[in-house]
Amino acid sequence: MQKGEMLYEGKAKRMYSTDDPNRIIVEYKDHLTAFNAQKKASMEGKGHLNNLISSIIFQALKERGVKNHFIRMLDDTHQEVLRVKILPLEVVVRNITAGSICKRLGVKEGLKLQRPLVELYYKDDALGDPIINDDHAILFGWATEEELKKIKSSAVKVNDLLSEIFDSVGITLVDFKLEFGRTQEGEIILADEISPDTCRLWDKHTGEKLDKDRFRNDLGKVLEAYEEIWKRLSLSHEGGKEEL
Ligand code: TMP
Repeated sequence: MQKGEMLYEGKAKRMYSTDDPNRIIVEYKDHLTAFNAQKKASMEGKGHLNNLISSIIFQALKERGVKNHFIRMLDDTHQEVLRVKILPLEVVVRNITAGSICKRLGVKEGLKLQRPLVELYYKDDALGDPIINDDHAILFGWATEEELKKIKSSAVKVNDLLSEIFDSVGITLVDFKLEFGRTQEGEIILADEISPDTCRLWDKHTGEKLDKDRFRNDLGKVLEAYEEIWKRLSLSHEGGKEEL
């Protein structure tokens, strides 16, 4: 697989074309950003860990019937994925209150919700990714009504599967963000990454935070937390069993 021209550079990843128009290569960077990139850092090995973790999770979701863009891990920091057009939506699923919902609604952190809460955000850095509702997405043409229905039911299914996967390795899935893309054939599939950058993950027994909140809130031991997630997942899932 030939790495061609760079198509796009985001905050945590770079995308490259390949000799196959249906496939691209994703490179996971060591960069970490928070609060719409107002806070920045680089941590050696973060890209490798997120590549390993995201590969295990996307493979596990694929095996459980969730269509997604993941094809295979190529090396420490690269993945081969299906080329899709990412919808400008961030789909957040919450099981327990934390982060922006606490600030926005003045609710305490750590409240267990009676059922998963699904939120939509418009993916636009310049606007600070504002929260939107279904009507905004439909009326501004970011997704059709049908597509939104599929996206939301897929997000709830992913939540069920991921909650079970993490629970089996002693971790509570607090919340996470998903992105979806449209294939050349017009099908909507799960894309982007799922990692401690995009999830809140708390140790089931101690409540210790094992995700990007360690960076956002200056809790220290950021890479150690990511490595702990990878170690636990790789013990119970194929696909990420190489040594760091
Ligand atoms: P929030 O509480 O800041 O809205 O974040 C909810 C979840 O979404 C959390 O697991 C972190 C993830 N997330 C991203 O992956 N990217 C983002 O840009 C933001 C704001 C949140």
